[in-house]
Amino acid sequence: MRVSVSRSIGRGLPFIAVGVVVLYLVAPSRTQPPDLPKPAPGDSKSSYDQIAPVLLGKETFQSVLTRDKADKPAVTARQKNLLEERYDLTPRPDPKVKMTRGKPIPVGPTARLPDGMTWAKLAVIPADEVREKGLFPKGFLPLPHPKHEVGGMVFPQMQIKQFARLERFDIEFDLPEQYLPEFPPALFLTTRKDLGDVSRGKVVTVDNFQEIFAGILNAKDLEGLRLLVTQFPQQQFNATADRKTERPDGMQGVACFDCHVNGHTSGATHLAGDIRPQSHRRRIDTTSLRGVNMQRLFGSQRALKSVEDFTEFEQRGAYFDGDHVAAAAKGVNALERGSQVHFMAEFQELLDFPPAPGLGWDGKLDPKKFSADSPEVKGQALFFGKARCAECHPAPFYTDNSMHDLAVERFYKTQTHNGLVATAQGPIKTFTLRGIKESPPYLHDGRLLTLEDTVEFFNLVLELKLDGDEKQYLVAFMRQL
Ligand code: HEC
Ligand code: HEC
Repeated sequence: MRVSVSRSIGRGLPFIAVGVVVLYLVAPSRTQPPDLPKPAPGDSKSSYDQIAPVLLGKETFQSVLTRDKADKPAVTARQKNLLEERYDLTPRPDPKVKMTRGKPIPVGPTARLPDGMTWAKLAVIPADEVREKGLFPKGFLPLPHPKHEVGGMVFPQMQIKQFARLERFDIEFDLPEQYLPEFPPALFLTTRKDLGDVSRGKVVTVDNFQEIFAGILNAKDLEGLRLLVTQFPQQQFNATADRKTERPDGMQGVACFDCHVNGHTSGATHLAGDIRPQSHRRRIDTTSLRGVNMQRLFGSQRALKSVEDFTEFEQRGAYFDGDHVAAAAKGVNALERGSQVHFMAEFQELLDFPPAPGLGWDGKLDPKKFSADSPEVKGQALFFGKARCAECHPAPFYTDNSMHDLAVERFYKTQTHNGLVATAQGPIKTFTLRGIKESPPYLHDGRLLTLEDTVEFFNLVLELKLDGDEKQYLVAFMRQL
């Protein structure tokens, strides 16, 4: 891992180069069988190269800290350039359409088109030609992690402002706040719809959960919630020398609800734990836990079958980058299935979608509230008809509880960006579209920053050839969900 980091971002930093040389010298030599393709630069044939480099005694905390801090400006600038190249990040909030607690939703499309191209022209070019000529918008390619070679949990600045313990010394969150969910988000319970948002505008933490939920939850669910707001050791946030926090309170670890703030999401990002080598690991945008009660598979590609299983997997697998050896060394808090995992899952299953006053009991627009020629009603007709969205996102929950391979790689050649190999992604969970306007950015890696971008993306990928009005109607409909 260290070798690849240094190779791609440490050029010109002589002391890193020295480290690389030293590592090369101490690394056991591996010979490639002649019939196997050579790994790309930065790739390794080992499944174990994520394991605790510092703990294995290769380097001290102080030396990692000094090098990572020196590297940080270059790392941040590299990612900023990538975002600028891919997106037009001029803020375009829509003051009329807001998330539950009042944050305006961002308006796009933000993805930049190649010079001289328009969305309409691009939509009629066959996929092979788009791929051969490199015409696919770069903002529709897989998005790398802010420091892909290292990965790990990264929290948005708005959250670090309130919880300084979530700050890393090597890296900064990359996407601007206007494309993130509101912070803190509202919290709705399936069991107490009469109460509306029960969060009282606060981030639910271990300091206030008793006060906020007194008389609302039973003792068992309160205990489940306590565990969800309790910090547990994690790969980058732990009490060993192999961590990325300078502040000692960050050494306590990360709580489930640090990412899934109030059962929704802060937009914190991570790398999927289950793929090797590092350059193929997917960036993953924290999913909302709203509505997990009616979902039947969990994780964008893991497809675990219950919230209980995913809770255990997060703790033992995702928290430690799929590395149970590091987990043991860093103090994994193995949860007991009957009295802890079960309680945590029970609370998560109470998290409801935000209210959608425009929808009737069938999850479709209430005809009494919209005229037949409104953009919303036209958008609904497209969603269930010509645009084919409902084939994978059926009402009332707008997911088929399955996975689909959208084969987006039909439109681009395999290419490497900031340490990520952008290649075929395989089948991904059909995320629910209920409450969708409250959880930008979109897709498993957060590469699409607005709902307008999602419509342009699906218009190309599904080869729908929608016109400009039709695209706006679809957005108007999704804002009602
Ligand atoms: C980086 C911050 C982060 C933390 C901390 C975190 N999660 Fe997650 N969680 C994610 C991401 C990212 C995903 C999506 C995973 C994927 O796409 O494969 C996810 C997915 C889930 C899912 C599946 C949701 C779905 O719709 O498929 C559940 C359930 C879940 N997390 C529960 C938990 C629990 C319980 C904890 C604490 C033990 C936890 N999470 C801690 C980021 C986090
Ligand atoms: C073949 C099945 C399929 C069809 C048809 C389809 N989707 Fe999806 N949709 C998916 C999958 C799978 C994902 C997740 C993809 C990913 O994360 O890479 C997704 C993700 C999304 C997301 C982002 C969800 C999130 O939480 O990030 C939006 C928005 C969306 N779809 C809207 C649409 C619209 C609008 C249409 C019709 C124009 C449509 N979809 C048609 C399967 C489909």
